[in-house]
Amino acid sequence: MLKVENFNDEISKKVETPELKNYVKISIENDEKNFCVLTKKFVDTNYLNRLRDFKVHDDDVWVISYPKCGTTWGVEMIWLLINDLNFEKAKKIHQNDRVPFIERGGIFTSINSDSIKITENLKRPRVIKSHLSSFLLPRELFANTKAKIIYIARNPKDAAISFFHHYRHLEGYDGSKEDFLNAFLNNRTLFAPINEKTLEFWKLSKINSNVLFIFYEDMKKNLQNETEKVMKFLNKNYPKSEIEELCEHLSFGSMRRNPQCNFEVINKSDDENFQFIRKGETGSYKKEMNSEENEKFDDFIMNEDFKFNDFEYKF
Ligand code: A3P
Repeated sequence: MLKVENFNDEISKKVETPELKNYVKISIENDEKNFCVLTKKFVDTNYLNRLRDFKVHDDDVWVISYPKCGTTWGVEMIWLLINDLNFEKAKKIHQNDRVPFIERGGIFTSINSDSIKITENLKRPRVIKSHLSSFLLPRELFANTKAKIIYIARNPKDAAISFFHHYRHLEGYDGSKEDFLNAFLNNRTLFAPINEKTLEFWKLSKINSNVLFIFYEDMKKNLQNETEKVMKFLNKNYPKSEIEELCEHLSFGSMRRNPQCNFEVINKSDDENFQFIRKGETGSYKKEMNSEENEKFDDFIMNEDFKFNDFEYKF
């Protein structure tokens, strides 16, 4: 049984924005760690049930992450690997139209499209993006299917700073960084909790060969290695020279210039220095968090369950 609760506290109210109104916590009854922060729209529009009943195909690839963990980067790589490195098509069609964000229409105030239907109608093999926790994803994804899941993780300090800029420039957040980070640390930002979600997919990747777990930080360190790892997982094989070409397409500069994946189309910011593909660094939090905030994040990621499951974020 799922439980839906409204968040009516100050911490949540402070991170409400014109795009993100009425946060709800959806959880599994009697299992406090299994929850996901969404907006009331998700329940009102029945995305909650429609998503869980969504028909999954064996050749689907689901890219799951917490927001700001390199999803756009990973999605671009995965779509190209699945689609015979069709750079021409990738440069012609916006990433959003190649890889639907399945729950999008059920979350943001101004999005009226039916992102579930769009995903349903997508030509196979489909690459599908989601930030949901597993208990809100289609039941079929975890039963009787050969569909693949790729989870992309990033350290919460960089993810939180990146999300703060995203909230400010893309969701209309006009509060302080302090309030935002406080909400993040209290698992009140959209799609929270990052730690539990990450650990859940880490554990899944250890027992299910259809689940691959990758780190943003590893992609930063050696993109070619990670690309080859993903290529093998997808049962694809491309010569080294083509992988090099793919890595060039995926480089920070190239993606930043690429209108089909730099998300300038959704950039409503009046700050001309802001870009969705923003800094692209590991450790950019060091310049943007004070020592007190940094310590709070150290506590936030000190997790007995991580140790028990041999999981550590990368920095
Ligand atoms: P920063 O805000 O720290 O720069 P998502 O796609 O999940 O929203 O993640 C966005 C983050 O991934 C942003 O982080 C963005 O700059 C980074 N990113 C996107 N493309 C990248 C690339 N080619 N190389 C490095 N980082 C990239």
